[in-house]
Amino acid sequence: MFLRPLLILLFAGASAFTVPSTSRFRLALKAGEGEGKTLVVAGASGYIGKSTVKEAVRQGYKTISLVRSKSSALSNPAVEPYLSGSEIIETDVTNLSSLKSTLSTLGPIDTAISCLASRSGVKKDAYLIDYQATSNFLKASTSAGARHFTLLSAFCCKNPWLQFQQAKLKFESELQDQDDLTYSIVRPTAFFKSVSGQLEVVQMGAPFVMFGDGEVTRCNPIAEKDLAQYLIDCGRDTKRQGKILNLGGPDEPLTMKKQGEMLYKAVGKDPNFFYAPLWLFDFIIDNIQKLADLTGLEALEDAAETGRIGKYYAVEDMLTTEPEEKFGSITLQQHYDKIAVDGQEYDPYTTMFAAPKKN
Ligand SMILES: NC(=O)c1ccc[n+]([C@@H]2O[C@H](COP(=O)([O-])OP(=O)(O)OC[C@H]3O[C@@H](n4cnc5c(N)ncnc54)[C@H](OP(=O)(O)O)[C@@H]3O)[C@@H](O)[C@H]2O)c1
Repeated sequence: MFLRPLLILLFAGASAFTVPSTSRFRLALKAGEGEGKTLVVAGASGYIGKSTVKEAVRQGYKTISLVRSKSSALSNPAVEPYLSGSEIIETDVTNLSSLKSTLSTLGPIDTAISCLASRSGVKKDAYLIDYQATSNFLKASTSAGARHFTLLSAFCCKNPWLQFQQAKLKFESELQDQDDLTYSIVRPTAFFKSVSGQLEVVQMGAPFVMFGDGEVTRCNPIAEKDLAQYLIDCGRDTKRQGKILNLGGPDEPLTMKKQGEMLYKAVGKDPNFFYAPLWLFDFIIDNIQKLADLTGLEALEDAAETGRIGKYYAVEDMLTTEPEEKFGSITLQQHYDKIAVDGQEYDPYTTMFAAPKKN
């Protein structure tokens, strides 16, 4: 019973774990860039997928949102407003023939963007979605004659020791090995949602949890709006094609301690830190893994993998420093200041509690 909240706390803690303001002018310029072109987003109901749909509609693309359940997307106040202006199509990305027939009805497709991702990151789900469903989307896009394919991948694939990273790498190779359409593989560092998971607990007076001395890792997370723009622009910018593109936001390297200080500044409270030892991860993971090996239970194997995911982000930098690997205008402090007032969406994998987000 206690395992899930504990893993979420560790994961949120571990996850606690984009170039300035000419961007308004740049955004205005881009408003008509998509006129006359069709852009298809798979995983349109997800955190990055829905922002990508919103930006594509704003840029004037005929935008197709592929979702697994149209009624769920339309009835979810955290999703529906983002998909407004797009054509929402329900399809099963795990079924190649149904996906092919869906895409064959759309007419010429300029850009296909995959924002598909397993919701849990555990092995079976990762190979089903991050590999197989994404591969299905590539095959269906190819047979529909799409011109360009953009993959939302992850910076952490650089140093893979998790199952979902292996599944993503398997698909990345498949995409690189084909020459039917041009491609871009975008590997973002961290999303804002992944470094905001402790907002509500801090607001309630609990300490901000960090690992080691809080200086173990550094990151420059990227805002979903900035990332959405980058993903779409890959279809037009030939310099971003045929490549793996590591991508972070505009911040300087932020340690966990720095993120905590920024969060306290946003909520107007004095910092109160709890330093969790890193060995806690190994203790928990090792014991769950022993139980998994003893019982052969998949649920325990998955719990151990979830622990490893938490540990990964507690010990690995999610950081880009080269100017061409930094993008966007929204800083983490701006994001914290906003969610401290508006609240943020509940996400079962990164937040334990969350107030509804104001639109
Ligand atoms: N979190 C981070 O900090 C971070 C950093 C860098 C890279 N990334 C990578 O970014 C990617 C996307 O992340 P995200 O947060 O936008 O993902 P997300 O919010 O979890 O969205 C995943 C999308 O995939 C769909 N999906 C999942 N399982 C499905 C299934 N069985 N059948 C049909 N559709 C399914 C979901 O549909 P439903 O809405 O119907 O579930 C949703 O549209 C991931 O690959 C992640 O590794 C994440």
